[in-house]
Amino acid sequence: MNKKVFIKSYGCQMNVYDSTRMADVLAAEGYEQSETPEGADLIVLNTCHIREKAAEKVYSDIGRMRLQVKSNADGDKEGVIAVAGCVAQAEGKEMMRRAPSVDLVLGPQTYHRLPDLLKQVDVERKTAKSGRVVDTDFPVEAKFDFLPKTRRSVQPAAFLSVQEGCDKFCTYCVVPYTRGAEYSRAFDAVMEEARSLVDAGTVEITLLGQNVNAYHGASADGTTRSLADLIRELAAIEGLERIRFTTSHPKDMQDDLIAIYGEEPKCMPYLHLPVQSGSNRILEAMNRHHTRETYLATLAALREVRPDIALSGDFIVGFPGETDADFEDTLSLVREVKYAQAYSFKYSARPGTPAAEMSGQVAEEVKSARLQALQELLNQHQAEFNEASIGRRVPVLFERTGREPGQLVGRSPYMQAVHVQLDAHQEGEYTPSKDQAGLMGQIGEVEIISAGPNSLKGQLIN
Ligand code: SAH
Ligand code: SF4
Ligand code: F3S
Repeated sequence: MNKKVFIKSYGCQMNVYDSTRMADVLAAEGYEQSETPEGADLIVLNTCHIREKAAEKVYSDIGRMRLQVKSNADGDKEGVIAVAGCVAQAEGKEMMRRAPSVDLVLGPQTYHRLPDLLKQVDVERKTAKSGRVVDTDFPVEAKFDFLPKTRRSVQPAAFLSVQEGCDKFCTYCVVPYTRGAEYSRAFDAVMEEARSLVDAGTVEITLLGQNVNAYHGASADGTTRSLADLIRELAAIEGLERIRFTTSHPKDMQDDLIAIYGEEPKCMPYLHLPVQSGSNRILEAMNRHHTRETYLATLAALREVRPDIALSGDFIVGFPGETDADFEDTLSLVREVKYAQAYSFKYSARPGTPAAEMSGQVAEEVKSARLQALQELLNQHQAEFNEASIGRRVPVLFERTGREPGQLVGRSPYMQAVHVQLDAHQEGEYTPSKDQAGLMGQIGEVEIISAGPNSLKGQLIN
């Protein structure tokens, strides 16, 4: 009988990608993925350390999982609880002390060793040792070389990690410590994974990296290839219709990458380019290596080659030393850029990062008030961007079914979620054509009929 594994992701897209790859590694060992933790032989919590809230959540989850993992007739725990990801990397042995029901702690660079580590847990248990194993190495071998070549479950829109780690050391951020030094996967290995995804039905690929635009992959012909080179080569794959990449750093938006938006129609007109703050003083304290002016110049160059490009960003409010005037600079930058969508966070002091030790830590009430003001403005721009879509025709890649019967949900080129109702009775006179049943995983032309703050509604054009 197959063993059952439950995997939960807490973090960024790369964290989600890692979860799918762990499922692939475990599938080769006879583990079937389960939607729920009840009675699982193995529970993997793939954690995120980026902000305190995300990191602390895992401890309450471990307590719940302890009661749900497989147990014997006497109620003794039989299954294994593994904590993976960035909290595991950051806390290692400390996590074992804090959470006695955790059997295995493994970092983001060692998950290809899961089968071996599970065997070690088993041996430890049988030999009546602690029964607990920690592996938070940064191994010299690249985990990608040890992962299965094919994926078990392939989606119409898939993630593909091409670059990992970060050498930028923004003063607030844990990623350089949890993911390690910047590393680019070999060009040919990325192409091979992309082709196998497309062969299995993937239509859209999002290239992932903590600093994806710093990608510089070694190619078999001895050259080093940039992200722009990679996008160009991917675009030649027949059947692959859409290419996205995230997350980019403003400092690494090179001219060849900007130019791609004007050259390659498969490169979707949407870019997530975190700025964090609109104040040069704060950007410097953050060690961001860009200014407000260089950032805006990059956006101007992008809009020059692709006038309809939709922009997204990340913001941190309440960084140590941030004054009302600094925050006002952030608001004015937002007014100038008008993001289609954005993420904003209250600064969270992270252990071991330089900013956690800086003077001028901002009071919680001030952070909350600034976050609210920023989000009001961002939401207003997002709503305006969505409303401007009404009446337009956009290609939508259908990725999943919606909550209502007969509803399909996909994304526009600009990353907006678009809901389309296929049932005649739901949308008045609208009658579905006979081939609409096969629309999942396909791109359909949709006319946008209404817009909400977070999604659009559209009607399929026959
Ligand atoms: N590598 C990406 C993503 C980093 S984490 C990048 O460089 O953009 C995603 C976002 O989390 C960051 O862009 C930042 O806005 C936010 N973030 C990171 N550390 C944080 C902290 N200590 N407190 C609050 N937000 C943080
Ligand atoms: Fe963190 Fe900065 Fe690296 Fe992004 S660029 S992962 S925010 S250190
Ligand atoms: Fe979180 Fe690690 Fe991603 S800290 S944001 S899961 S790189």
